[in-house]
Amino acid sequence: MRIADTWKDYQVISTGDGQKLEKWGDYTLLRPDPQVIWHSKKDMKKGADAVYERRDGGGMWHYNRQIPERWNISWKNIKFIVKPMGFKHTGIFPEQAVNWEMMMGLIENSKRPIKVLNLFAYTGGASVACAKAGAAVTHVDASKGMVERAKENATLNGISTIRYIVDDCQKFIEREIRRGNFYDAIIMDPPSYGRGPSGEMWKLEDNLCDFVALTKKVLSDKPLFVLINSYTTGLQPTVIANILKSVFGNENVTADEIGLPSNDGLVLPCGATGVKIWKN
Ligand SMILES: C[S@@+](CC[C@H](N)C(=O)[O-])C[C@H]1O[C@@H](n2cnc3c(N)ncnc32)[C@H](O)[C@@H]1O
Repeated sequence: MRIADTWKDYQVISTGDGQKLEKWGDYTLLRPDPQVIWHSKKDMKKGADAVYERRDGGGMWHYNRQIPERWNISWKNIKFIVKPMGFKHTGIFPEQAVNWEMMMGLIENSKRPIKVLNLFAYTGGASVACAKAGAAVTHVDASKGMVERAKENATLNGISTIRYIVDDCQKFIEREIRRGNFYDAIIMDPPSYGRGPSGEMWKLEDNLCDFVALTKKVLSDKPLFVLINSYTTGLQPTVIANILKSVFGNENVTADEIGLPSNDGLVLPCGATGVKIWKN
């Protein structure tokens, strides 16, 4: 398990009964989390500034006190926008700090120009981290709204070098293969299930292996890393490791659960991540 314990502005305060209470800078949010099947030791609603309540397959935020529509938090020297949104999202996956730190180290230590391709890139946490470390980043996501937010996160950090693409990731890769564009590092956070901008179907179990194989065709002849995240319930880290090994070779592939430390002494599991690193 890799635990993201490098935050000052973010904490998991407590967990239990299907929920997690988190501190995001000055504000506390209570959100559902399907992994949390144990009981809580305290009344978590007490002290929560906003609570996300599930309703008929959807849900909405209820506010116990007035809080801003959006605010910023910092991780190391990077700032991110926090904004409670639909689907209980806030725009940041704080557990990804373990990956940001690792990728920044790899980019900085490579001592050469690195081109990063960030796929299913969401609000651009990884894009900002890699750009801060000096990489030339291409950020691809099917959602115009998410790309807008990613641009705002970059602007907040004084970064203006990221190339943004609103497109289906598979179509974009196919185009890059035809154009002969290559990348030294690839990051992907594929959803369990989704649709591209023209209705292209994505189902992780059916599509991931072929998709990863396709990305190999845009990898430079001096690659640095390929990193895959998964939040798909039940998908073990070893599955990610096996896909990486089968496509890129067995050497230097690791995969782990990632998690967040909680003030109640537990660790909140937050999905799986795997990486292939080239030593050159
Ligand atoms: C980062 S992933 C998963 C996020 C989070 N880990 C979760 O499970 O909810 C979601 C992102 O992938 C994007 N996305 C989904 N299908 C896509 C596709 N076919 N091509 C490009 N982006 C896609 C979405 O717009 C979204 O920003």
